[in-house]
Amino acid sequence: MARDLESMLDAMLDGVVLLDARGEVESLNSEACRILETSTEAAVGRPIEDLFGEDQSTAKLSRAVLADGRAVIEREHAVEGRQGDDLVIDVSASPLFDGDELDGVALLLRDCAIQKSLRDVVSQREALASFGCIAAGIAHEIKNPLGGIRGAAEILGARASDDKSRSAAELIVREVDRIALLVDDFMVFTPGEDLRVAPVNIHRVLDGVLAVTAHEKIGANVEVERVFDPSIPDLIADADRLSQVFLNLVRNALQAMEGEGGKIVITTRMAFDRHLSLPHGQLGPSLIVELADTGPGIEAAVLDEVATPFFTTRPEGTGLGLAVARHWITRHDGTLRLESTPGVGTTVRIALPLSRPK
Ligand SMILES: Nc1ncnc2c1ncn2[C@@H]1O[C@H](COP(=O)(O)OP(=O)(O)O)[C@@H](O)[C@H]1O
Ligand SMILES: [Mg+2]
Repeated sequence: MARDLESMLDAMLDGVVLLDARGEVESLNSEACRILETSTEAAVGRPIEDLFGEDQSTAKLSRAVLADGRAVIEREHAVEGRQGDDLVIDVSASPLFDGDELDGVALLLRDCAIQKSLRDVVSQREALASFGCIAAGIAHEIKNPLGGIRGAAEILGARASDDKSRSAAELIVREVDRIALLVDDFMVFTPGEDLRVAPVNIHRVLDGVLAVTAHEKIGANVEVERVFDPSIPDLIADADRLSQVFLNLVRNALQAMEGEGGKIVITTRMAFDRHLSLPHGQLGPSLIVELADTGPGIEAAVLDEVATPFFTTRPEGTGLGLAVARHWITRHDGTLRLESTPGVGTTVRIALPLSRPK
């Protein structure tokens, strides 16, 4: 099978830089360009030192390999970004030989943050999948007898001769209905339920959600600002599921600010990103939706847990809002992340692929 070597290198999640015997750049792939904030045009022909800023440790490592011909692996080198956003990379440098002669170096640069995100995405997926199987099983077993209990309680209520018995029967009916709603909520996790996809205008979805919450009591005292990029194209998605996702998130933000008041800023923009939830982290255009609130924030110790099913700090909460939201975003091959600073606020960032591969 013949494959274009260049496109293969560009598809890799690792940065690759090839140096010639003088330590000058011969070629580099797209991930290396991203990590080093350079382009092929700017980098090829330049000495390796030019690719790095103040921290020359990776350049020195390459020179050492050119000098003694031995491969080296080093973890956690810093690469300074131009906007102060430093990356941490693992570096491996291997000598290249032409016959017996040392002819260059192949540098492999691995962005540690991407590796961590990939691991997070995989473990979230696995957790949701196994939870989904359990939830589906339990939901089924609970739902069946509920109908019988409700019917029997109604009969008892109708036949009751005193008020106390009647109100006890009504209580049973009400509580049964509450359980049924909860069960419906976690039936959502049933694996394999299909998405009904069609072209979706994300701003219409968000406006629809805000129209619903505008009428809710919890929304009083909260200002909502929309920072929408009107050039965003339709995405192929399930509009009902996305509405449910954003409704859960907006309600959470409103509940977090209830009483105190505050502000929600909803931002939409496009990014050219790795789709970490797709196999091999394909590159492609993404839609980013950010919901930032000025609520009390979430303590770092529980930030990783708030999206697990049944985690709640609210007396009347079910702990399913974020879990359901993440479930549907994951089903759309997207990601949902939370950032929070206690005392400042919480931001939920959702990335959805704009071009869905077959
Ligand atoms: N915007 C937010 N600000 C502060 N805390 C939040 C926010 N969103 C979610 N949380 C925390 O995460 C928990 C879980 O949220 P969720 O899954 O929607 O369940 P529920 O809303 O039923 O509690 C909440 O109880 C709350 O502690
Ligand atoms: Mg909630």
